[in-house]
This record gives sequence, structure tokens and C-alpha cells, in this order.
Amino acid sequence: METAAREAWRSFLEAWAIPQRLIDAVGVDPHVWHPEFWERMRRAEASRLQESPTLAIVEDIAGGGSVLDVGAGTGRLAIPLAGRGHRVTTVERDPDMARSLAAEAERAGAVMTQVVGAWPLVAGNTGIHDVVLATQVVYDVAGIGGFVEAMHHRSRRGVVVEMTPRHPWTPLSRYFRALHGLERPSRPTVDDFGRVVEEVVGISPQQRHWTAPTGLRFADMQELLAFYRRRLLVPPVRSIEAAALLEPDVRHTDDGWLVLGPEERDVVTLWWRK
Ligand SMILES: C[S@@+](CC[C@H](N)C(=O)[O-])C[C@H]1O[C@@H](n2cnc3c(N)ncnc32)[C@H](O)[C@@H]1O
Repeated sequence: METAAREAWRSFLEAWAIPQRLIDAVGVDPHVWHPEFWERMRRAEASRLQESPTLAIVEDIAGGGSVLDVGAGTGRLAIPLAGRGHRVTTVERDPDMARSLAAEAERAGAVMTQVVGAWPLVAGNTGIHDVVLATQVVYDVAGIGGFVEAMHHRSRRGVVVEMTPRHPWTPLSRYFRALHGLERPSRPTVDDFGRVVEEVVGISPQQRHWTAPTGLRFADMQELLAFYRRRLLVPPVRSIEAAALLEPDVRHTDDGWLVLGPEERDVVTLWWRK
């Protein structure tokens, strides 16, 4: 069995590990998920969801059928899909995200089945669905072969994956360089993921490139700087230096939030039918 593409994916991701000396210096985990910030992003994108190619492609393949959303987060796609009449099942490994998803689904009046646990370990508890979907998850997954294989096997009609063309931490690379003299990797990319799909499933996925509003948004400068000090492992004595580095790149959104970086971010939707 050919495994070169999935092994390459794993080693590219391993190269993204933050050196332990930087973590030890501040004593925090920079990878922590923030349901609240994801929830703001979900709401910000809700108004643009009509234009989401991912949603359109899922609906086209599902033909009104069921959808399994793997790594559903706070339900950015799962909630609107349930609202459009699809039977939706979600898988989410982070209990805090899963709790936020349950609360948001209830608020939206969206009915769905939630499985809390890590894919593909919990794949046997989810059933078979017309479409299996994973949005903004694959860069979290070192064991990508088993992840993709289980998505393929649990789908009746097809699989849809949404991702950024490059690792989502790529926009922070220049700050890591400036603050810590640390070079960040340039792979894996969406093409590396495409090669994994070809290797695991034997199909070359279709791709559509598009743009979406920039992700994480903050109520004020204090909140934004606290978040990125953690992400960038900035010790308290270097807070002013870090603020001076980030401030020129901070922008106000039309709806009153602060974001770091450009107004739009590149997104790719990949899919294959069975
Ligand atoms: C970047 S968020 C994206 C959330 C949502 N899909 C979206 O597009 O807004 C990634 C989510 O995937 C979850 N996740 C990562 N790996 C997972 C796995 N192997 N099984 C289940 N959930 C996973 C994380 O806990 C996180 O909530």
C-alpha cells in the first residue's frame, strides 16, 4: 500500500510544533480553542452563508439527504444545514466546543444528533450519511489517512472538505520570525491534501477556490492582544514590543470588531462523489 502522501502530511504537520523552550518560557498552551471567538466568526459569516460554495456543494451532493459534520466546532455549517432540512449529525472532540454547539443549535431551533469524541475513533457511532463534511479541521489531523478513509466509508454519495490553501497559522509566521527568530514551515498545503485523497481513496478531488471574511474577531485591543500574546508565546516583559508589532496590522470590521490581518482570507472547498 502506498503511504507516501499521508506520511508526508504527518511530517509537514509535525514541523509546525512550537519549540518546547518557547512554551516553557510562558507556561501556556498556544493551541487552546476558544468557543466564544469561533462563535463570533460563525455569526459574522452567517450573513454571507448564502454565498458559501461549501454549503452549495454539500446541498448539491446530498440532494436533501443526511449530512455528517466532522469537527463541527460551534456549528458554522451544521446549524444552517439543519435549518435547510437536512438530517445533521455532528462529531466534535472538544467538550467545550460541543457544549457551545448544543447551546447555539437550541437557540437557532436546529435539531441535530451530536457525537462527542475524536474522528475516526467514534466513526462507528455515527451511522452512514449521504455527505460527510469536514470544514477547517484537516490541519489539526496528523493521522490524515484514517481520517479521510473513515469519511469516505461513512458517506453514501460523497465527501466535502473545506480548508485554507495553507496552514491556518501561516499568517502568524512573520510574527514568530520577528519575536522569536523562528522560521515556520510552508507545507502542508491544499495540494498535499489532494495527494492524500488520491492515495487513500484513489480519486482526485475537485477544488473550488474562494474568499471569506477574515476569521477571529475581538471586542477591543486588549482582548486581541491577550489572545495573540498567547498564540505567539509572548512573555509579559515583551508585551509592549508585541503590541507594537501587531498594531499596524489590526483592522476594524464594518460590523465593529477588531481583526488581525487582511479583510478576506482564501478558502478552498474540495469534494468527490461516490
Ligand atoms: C477550526 S475548528 C472548525 C470548526 C467548524 N468546522 C467550522 O468550520 O467552523 C476545528 C474543530 O475541529 C475539532 N476537531 C479537530 N480534530 C478533530 C477530530 N479528530 N475529531 C473531532 N473533532 C475534531 C476541533 O475541536 C475544533 O472544534
